[in-house]
Amino acid sequence: MAILIKRPAAIKPSEITDRALYFDRRRFLRASLLSTVGLPALLARPRIASAALTVHELPPGPFSTHETMTPYQDTTTYNNFYEFGTSKGDPSRYAGAMSTNPWTVAVTGACRHPAIYHLEDFIRPYALQERIYRHRCVEAWSMVIPWIGVPLRDILRRCVPSGDARYVEFTTLYDPREMPGQRSDILQWPYLEGLRMDEAMHPLTLLAVGMYGRVLPNQNGAPLRLVVPWKYGFKSIKSIVKIRLVKNQPVTTWMRAVPQRYGFYSNVNPAVDRVPWSQRYERRIGDFFKRKTLMFNGYGPEVAHLYAGMNLAKYY
Ligand code: MTE
Repeated sequence: MAILIKRPAAIKPSEITDRALYFDRRRFLRASLLSTVGLPALLARPRIASAALTVHELPPGPFSTHETMTPYQDTTTYNNFYEFGTSKGDPSRYAGAMSTNPWTVAVTGACRHPAIYHLEDFIRPYALQERIYRHRCVEAWSMVIPWIGVPLRDILRRCVPSGDARYVEFTTLYDPREMPGQRSDILQWPYLEGLRMDEAMHPLTLLAVGMYGRVLPNQNGAPLRLVVPWKYGFKSIKSIVKIRLVKNQPVTTWMRAVPQRYGFYSNVNPAVDRVPWSQRYERRIGDFFKRKTLMFNGYGPEVAHLYAGMNLAKYY
C-alpha cells in the first residue's frame, strides 16, 4: 500500500507526537518519487504544479539513536530560519508562504557532471532512509528528530567531484518576496554554509526531504535541507537551491556575521564556549533538567578521526 506523505498543513499534532504510534505507522510507509515536469531554469521558480514527494517503506537507518524523539509539535514550532524572522515562532507562522513545488537544485563547480535538477529527479535515484539524530543548537537547546533523506555522499558521487573539490558550499533560496526576512540586512543573503569534502562524504551527513515520515514542513527547511548531526544546528542549511564543489574554504553566513562566535567547523564541543552561550550543558526541549553536552554531539566514535591532530579550540 502506498501512502502519500501528507503536506504539513494536513497534519494534526495529536497524530504524531506519540513514538509508539509513529513506529507503528511507519511500517506501512512506502517511498516513491513521482513524475516530474521539465527542467525549469535555476531559481526561475515557475508557478506550475508538479508531482509531490511520496514515501515507501523505509529501511531502518544506520546511526539512529534510540533516545526519545522530540514531539513533532515542538520541532515544527520552535525553529531558527531567519529568512522568516528571528523569533522561534516566526518560521512556523510565516514560512507557509514559501512555494516549494516545483523546486530546482543546481550542482556546480569542480565536478565532471554539473547539472540542474528538478527536485524529484535529484532525489528519485536513491532509496530514502530514516535517521533518528540528535540535533544540537549553539543556543544550548537540543532535540531528537527522525529525518528522512539521502546520504549526501551518494549525490556527490553522481556528479564525480574533481581533484579541486576540497569543500562543498550550499546556498539557500533567495526570494525576498516569499522570504520576508531577506528584506532586512540582519544577515547577508542568501544563507550560505559549507563542509570540508570528507565531512560531506561522511555517511552520517544527510540531505533531508522529510521528517517523522512526512515531507519537511517549510519551517524546517522544505523541500531540501542538510543535516550534519555532530555539528551545531546552523550548519544544517535549509531550503537548498545550490550545491557547489569548490577549492577554497567557503566563508559562511555566520562566519561573516559574527566571526568570533562562528567558525567554519562548528563541531559540537563542550570545551569551547560560544559567548553568550556556554556549551557545557544543553536543555533537551521538553526536559526540565539540563544535560551534559557530549563532544561531537555524541558522534565521536564515527567522526573524531576526521579531526585527528587538529586544535579544535583554534579551528572551531
Ligand atoms: N538555514 C537557513 N537558510 N536559514 C537559517 O536561519 N538557521 C540554522 C539552520 N539552518 C537557518 C538555517 C540554525 S541557527 C539552526 S539551529 C537550524 O537551522 C534549526 O533547524 P530546525 O528549525 O529544523 O530545528
